[in-house]
Amino acid sequence: MLRLRRACATIARGTKFVSAGTLAIQDSSSPKIELLGVSKTFATSQGSVKALDKTNLKVATNEIVCLVGPSGCGKSTLLNLVAGFLSPSEGSVLVDATPVPGPGAERAVVFQQDSVFPWLTVAQNLAYGPKARGLHAGEVSSIVERLLSLVGLAEYRDFYPLQLSGGMKKRVDLARAYANKPAIMLMDEPFGALDVLTKEKMQIELLRLWQEEALTILFVTHDIEEALFIGDRVVVMTPRPARVAADVTVHLERELDPRRKTSADFQALRQQLMDTLSQNEAESAA
Ligand SMILES: Nc1ncnc2c1ncn2[C@@H]1O[C@H](COP(=O)(O)OP(=O)(O)O)[C@@H](O)[C@H]1O
Ligand SMILES: [Mg+2]
Repeated sequence: MLRLRRACATIARGTKFVSAGTLAIQDSSSPKIELLGVSKTFATSQGSVKALDKTNLKVATNEIVCLVGPSGCGKSTLLNLVAGFLSPSEGSVLVDATPVPGPGAERAVVFQQDSVFPWLTVAQNLAYGPKARGLHAGEVSSIVERLLSLVGLAEYRDFYPLQLSGGMKKRVDLARAYANKPAIMLMDEPFGALDVLTKEKMQIELLRLWQEEALTILFVTHDIEEALFIGDRVVVMTPRPARVAADVTVHLERELDPRRKTSADFQALRQQLMDTLSQNEAESAA
């Protein structure tokens, strides 16, 4: 059975709940991603909407942090700020201790909706980014070969997206995001539209990609089991405007086997998180 390479992935069981603002990062070097007192307010025709309110968050290099929280609380807004698609109304969004200047190739974004080009084959889709970066044909082709084999699509290299299943298309999407060798993957409910089995395969695919290189991943999901399966930490956001309500370090043994979702430890942690989410919503409704 495959296991992840990290030292921290081995058998430290139990959960640590950390209150908002004091995050459980052991690494003393500067975080890969840091939000410092970040607020974001949108001006709309109905008035202003505050999506984030003085949010603080740190993500260490090579960490996978999952964000969960009620719908409309500000998760996508947070991700879009790190992607550089939005700028903060207040506070700082830092990557490698430098304010995010705008979108950049080192921060790949994967949405629920595929961003594959329907008029290009699988191989051409994967070659698109490296070509656009001006790499030589030889380099492009070696990246494409590696990605095809990494996501198990070598036999489908000449297929068009229309000829692929939803799961295969998502793999192309993932590989395409990965083709530019990003340091950070920002994923917004990327597997939300997939059926349960395909979703589990994709979670494993993602963890395999993450094993390949030092990737830091910020992953939004509404699926708590998904968050616990892939995350080093699960950050629970409050209802809008989003702040960090709880920051949970996942100390479960990390095998690439979806059956571990049924273990007592896993389910106990899932229940704790569900309780935190409900309490969170009840407090904000009170
Ligand atoms: N571009 C925008 N203009 C106005 N309001 C927005 C915009 N983007 C998000 N919002 C509002 O900000 C809040 C948070 O949205 P979002 O971050 O998409 O939530 P989530 O991803 O947690 O479901 C919502 O009330 C949403 O309507
Ligand atoms: Mg969203």
